[in-house]
Amino acid sequence: MNNTGETKKKILVLLGSPRKKGNSTTLAMEIAEGAESEGAEVETLYINGMNIRACQACWTCQEEKSAGCPIDDDMQIIYPKLAEADCWVIASPVHWFNMSTQTKLWLDRCFALQKYGKNPFKKRSPLP
Ligand SMILES: Cc1cc2nc3c(=O)[nH]c(=O)nc-3n(C[C@H](O)[C@H](O)[C@H](O)COP(=O)(O)O)c2cc1C
Repeated sequence: MNNTGETKKKILVLLGSPRKKGNSTTLAMEIAEGAESEGAEVETLYINGMNIRACQACWTCQEEKSAGCPIDDDMQIIYPKLAEADCWVIASPVHWFNMSTQTKLWLDRCFALQKYGKNPFKKRSPLP
């Protein structure tokens, strides 16, 4: 609960730069501080410091009775956090006109996310 009696919003910040104190982190922390000052609960993950393997495109996660992604790495910690959060802040630098490798590793593995929560993408709409 926050100080107005509402349930705290959960914000998950994903830092996609290898530079832990880089520009994208600075911007993400501004958002995090703003959210915290409004009573949100913020958790920050530094993707580069986690063990996240590349999606192997096995499609196991897409099978009807699949339990999720079979790769046993830190994504198994991140999936429930993604499913529970009300909002994600994805902070990536531009690397070769695209998101960073670290961010893309994480994103590809989100192919399995629907197995970790009901409509994990649908419940999130862009900020107004
Ligand atoms: C491998 C690599 C590729 C990059 N490619 C681009 C690019 O395509 N376009 C661009 O504007 N900046 C590019 N940059 C510059 C970074 O986007 C820029 O330094 C950014 O501020 C880094 O963010 P960070 O401090 O959060 O890591 C590249 C940097 C690196 C290391």
